[in-house]
Amino acid sequence: MEKKQTKLAMMGCFLLLLLLPFLFFPFSLADGDAYIGVNIGTALSDMPSPTQVVALLKSQQIRHIRLYDADMAMLTALAKSGIEVTVTVPNEQLLGIGQSNATAAKWVSKNVVAHVPAVNITAIAIGSEVLTALPNAALVLVSAMKFVHSALVAANLDRKIKVSSPHSSSIILDSFPPSQAFFNRSWEPVIVPMLKLLQSTDSHLMLNVYPYYDYMQSNGVIPLDYALFRPLPPNKEAVDANTLLHYTNVFDAVVDAAYFAMAYLNITNVPVVVLESGWPSKGSSDEPDATIENSNTYNSNLIRHILNKTGTPKHPGVAVPTYIYELYNEDQKPGALSEKNWGLFDANGLPVYELHLSGSGMILANDTANQTFCVAKDGADAKMLQAALDWACGPGKVDCSELLQGQSCYEPDSVGAHASYAFDSYYHKMGMASGTCYFNGVAAITTSDPSSDSCVFPGSGGKNGTFLNGTTTESNVTAETSSGGGSSHRHQQQYGSTVTWALVIAMASLI
Ligand SMILES: *[C@@H]1O[C@H](CO)[C@@H](O)[C@H](O)[C@H]1NC(C)=O
Ligand SMILES: *[C@@H]1O[C@H](CO)[C@@H](O)[C@H](O)[C@H]1NC(C)=O
Ligand SMILES: *[C@@H]1O[C@H](CO)[C@@H](O)[C@H](O)[C@H]1NC(C)=O
Ligand SMILES: *[C@@H]1O[C@H](CO)[C@@H](O)[C@H](O)[C@H]1NC(C)=O
Ligand SMILES: *[C@@H]1O[C@H](CO)[C@@H](O)[C@H](O)[C@H]1NC(C)=O
Ligand SMILES: *[C@@H]1O[C@H](CO)[C@@H](O)[C@H](O)[C@H]1NC(C)=O
Ligand SMILES: *[C@@H]1O[C@H](CO)[C@@H](O)[C@H](O)[C@H]1NC(C)=O
Ligand SMILES: *[C@@H]1O[C@H](CO)[C@@H](O)[C@H](O)[C@H]1NC(C)=O
Ligand SMILES: *[C@@H]1O[C@H](CO)[C@@H](O)[C@H](O)[C@H]1NC(C)=O
Ligand SMILES: *[C@@H]1O[C@H](CO)[C@@H](O)[C@H](O)[C@H]1NC(C)=O
Repeated sequence: MEKKQTKLAMMGCFLLLLLLPFLFFPFSLADGDAYIGVNIGTALSDMPSPTQVVALLKSQQIRHIRLYDADMAMLTALAKSGIEVTVTVPNEQLLGIGQSNATAAKWVSKNVVAHVPAVNITAIAIGSEVLTALPNAALVLVSAMKFVHSALVAANLDRKIKVSSPHSSSIILDSFPPSQAFFNRSWEPVIVPMLKLLQSTDSHLMLNVYPYYDYMQSNGVIPLDYALFRPLPPNKEAVDANTLLHYTNVFDAVVDAAYFAMAYLNITNVPVVVLESGWPSKGSSDEPDATIENSNTYNSNLIRHILNKTGTPKHPGVAVPTYIYELYNEDQKPGALSEKNWGLFDANGLPVYELHLSGSGMILANDTANQTFCVAKDGADAKMLQAALDWACGPGKVDCSELLQGQSCYEPDSVGAHASYAFDSYYHKMGMASGTCYFNGVAAITTSDPSSDSCVFPGSGGKNGTFLNGTTTESNVTAETSSGGGSSHRHQQQYGSTVTWALVIAMASLI
């Protein structure tokens, strides 16, 4: 055991030295804003009118959207809204545009130039997962991007509007450990010139990141908690043995895999924008984790993670703007039941669930939930409670000094009462983020204040009638959204070697 440890550590150090040049972030996002956007697919039997869509966006303070086309009516409704819009060249139009500069110029003129500046178009997505969804068009992808870009240059819009192309993360292979990730070599003839174009035009790499599929296809290797950004004991974290970076969630690992895959091609100054990410709220029996609770947990935690500007382990503090997939449930989407259930809202603009975002001052929050507390579940196993209590007061970094003998929360001196105090402290320290009241299932959220006269629980004003105000230290960030037209998007992810996760997790528990 001891020997293994040393060897691993040495190997880590060795590789760390090799990789040092990659560990510094050589760029900063020009617009360093952390924001959340929303994708707007339109395959609804009862699609709200563009005016209704914009009204919903405004009521939810969604300021960044991605459309799956450049629908005239939608763009017209967006005029003067201030909402930042990413429009998409649908895959069906890609061949034409990639083969003719004139066709590209016409597309830009009709769908972009005609709408600015009234509509704040900030990016054009060329196609949707072209390499995996429409491989025949791959050969013209880069010329389509170049043609569209030169049309923007001609209209003097190239600095305001970025051109990129969203890819499935499945084009990145061996994405764990992230430091060993690389782009599928079959696609290098497309990816290399594409990245060079993104670099020379100061654009970003658009990536679709779906921890849901990574989890589903890992055959149990990826723990659900990792996919959902739920906190886990540090000894369960995945460690990249080459960089010694700790990964607490799949999302970060995939984004870092993209950074490493680019670095492998010597591209180190192209930022990543996640154009799609989400979790379905409903699925048939073969998708048991497509639930409202998991969807809410994923999206709530994702939003917090992005807006907190945590960045990724490779690039801490560097914002990863992310667009949630998606605004509406698209009941007309073909395929599995889950395909129709990725939305935050139904066709009537009613939320599928209320995101757990109270206190974050966030959009989409409309969180009417009352004051909540996290306490030990009645009848929970004492040993599990003790382990969770130890974790919270140790690695969880909760201040448990009030639980010491003589302090105000020592009485009642039971593991349940002490665990409740520690759980609630952790929960509030984490801004009541979804999934932070879990503790291997021995904790539960309650609305009744567990405080006693002497012991005031975090999140409570105390039983003496003091009114409590803001309980989180979350910064007051606003979120933004992106929308699009007929969602030609399909979830057809194929994932590479998730098996390595098992190894990494096993190794992490050894250390
Ligand atoms: C459009 O978006 C850009 C980028 O965030 C922003 O700087 C600009 O103020 C916006 N323009 C309008 C008219 O809202
Ligand atoms: C394509 O057209 C634009 C004008 O829209 C022009 O500036 C550019 O030079 C053309 N590019 C090529 C490769 O022909
Ligand atoms: C890499 O891309 C090629 C071409 O699309 C595909 O046939 C192959 O399966 C991909 N490799 C992996 C490991 O996904
Ligand atoms: C990256 O740069 C290194 C050092 O300059 C060079 O040896 C290597 O061939 C380059 N790799 C690629 C893919 O361009
Ligand atoms: C927010 O970021 C800080 C440091 O940047 C980190 O310590 C904290 O855990 C983050 N909170 C959440 C909820 O991610
Ligand atoms: C949000 O709350 C306001 C006021 O409580 C309510 O009028 C509105 O319908 C709610 N919106 C959603 C989407 O729940
Ligand atoms: C508290 O929750 C109840 C039930 O969910 C709701 O009716 C009430 O309006 C909430 N109160 C506040 C102040 O949000
Ligand atoms: C609440 O009132 C009791 C009795 O008056 C007092 O001992 C206790 O310190 C008070 N607690 C707080 C948090 O103010
Ligand atoms: C919360 O309470 C503190 C101390 O009483 C006060 O300084 C602060 O302004 C309050 N914050 C809000 C949002 O009311
Ligand atoms: C959020 O930020 C806005 C603008 O910066 C400010 O007016 C508002 O008071 C802030 N709200 C909170 C709760 O800090």
